Amino acid sequence: MLSKENNELLTRVGPGTPMGQVLRQFWTPALRSAKLEIDGAPERVRLFGESFVAFRDTNGRVGFLDEACPHRGVSLALGRNEECGLRCIFHGWKMNVDGQVVEVPSEPQGSNLASKVRVNHYPVREAGGLVWVWLGKGSEPPQFPAFEFIDLPPENVVVRKAIVESNWVGLVEGLLDSSHVSSLHKAWLPKGQEALTGPNAGVMGALAPTYEIEERAYGFTAAAKRLLPDGTSVNRYTQYVLPWNCFIPSTLKTMRSVTMPVPVDDETTNFWGMAWDTDGPLDGPTVDLRRNAGKLGPDPDNYYQPSYGPEKVWGQDRELMKKGFYAGFEALPIEDFAVTKSQGKITDRTREHLGASDIAIIRMRRLLLDLARDYQAGKQPRIHTNEIDYHKIRAVHEIIAPAGNRVEIS
Ligand code: FES
Ligand SMILES: [Fe+2]
Repeated sequence: MLSKENNELLTRVGPGTPMGQVLRQFWTPALRSAKLEIDGAPERVRLFGESFVAFRDTNGRVGFLDEACPHRGVSLALGRNEECGLRCIFHGWKMNVDGQVVEVPSEPQGSNLASKVRVNHYPVREAGGLVWVWLGKGSEPPQFPAFEFIDLPPENVVVRKAIVESNWVGLVEGLLDSSHVSSLHKAWLPKGQEALTGPNAGVMGALAPTYEIEERAYGFTAAAKRLLPDGTSVNRYTQYVLPWNCFIPSTLKTMRSVTMPVPVDDETTNFWGMAWDTDGPLDGPTVDLRRNAGKLGPDPDNYYQPSYGPEKVWGQDRELMKKGFYAGFEALPIEDFAVTKSQGKITDRTREHLGASDIAIIRMRRLLLDLARDYQAGKQPRIHTNEIDYHKIRAVHEIIAPAGNRVEIS
């Protein structure tokens, strides 16, 4: 349970909010790299309740600017992307990727207005199929989170997102909450495990795990441990990397993933799902097939369509339930979105009753609240003052046979 004040502190990310300020200090996934073509259409991007525009200039460089034209606020998403700059269509002012105003054709010859106008522009990195932006304050961005997928050939990495009308914290909580798997995702469990756990297929889901949290410089590792009736241990190690990166274990050997719920505003989230195969090319349908957890929509920029609200019971289908889909949804992530949205756009955490199975969530909230308070007190996040080996962070699904033999699944 949280006080009303702490719930506000935890969830609000708009300009000037303590959490919003510290989140802006992190490298933030903004959009798929492939969305930006040289001299192509600029893309409007919303993050933390603010509006930006991204474009790729004639030389292939990505610019990331405030959306509003510095002249009179027209959206630069309407602009023309030409000859190394973005030109506002209203009066033709032109800005380059470095945020310089390079032409002000509406002004008289010889005007020095251009040199006096500032456009907010932000550092970007292109990596792993994403454009990442740093919206923080200070002279230097922090260490870049160079996760395992960052160095892989682009064809080995699948980049997809869903746009979910829900505050980002609830979605992170859902990812770190291992105990809901045995209920909400029941429909997918036996099939998902039989390939690798043989006679124990499906049993794991029926057992309540014991949890252990190990603190890390980057966040924590949450171990959910289950002892099967035959003495086999099934241990799942989830990694939480501040502030939104969740590495969930799977039983697939070379395919791994990280999920990053990034705030668009207080009530909307870009739910980025990165999946990669260390051994070879991968595509979306293959990811869905291997996970055996339903098919996602075809749009990589929003695979969650249609998205229903309470008027349609969040899209639940009682006919599907009769056919054996426990929760009444056709794909596992859609189950997560439905339950999270049903908690309210911003969950009222003053009314909940947490149990032993919620300790990962409790820890995550505490880390985030400390992060926001410390930043207000002038302290940089610890994750940014330590050197982190992001490349090595991964979730592990481990099976230990009664004889003590360890089989690491992923
Ligand atoms: S508003 Fe953009 S040039 Fe005038
Ligand atoms: Fe889930």
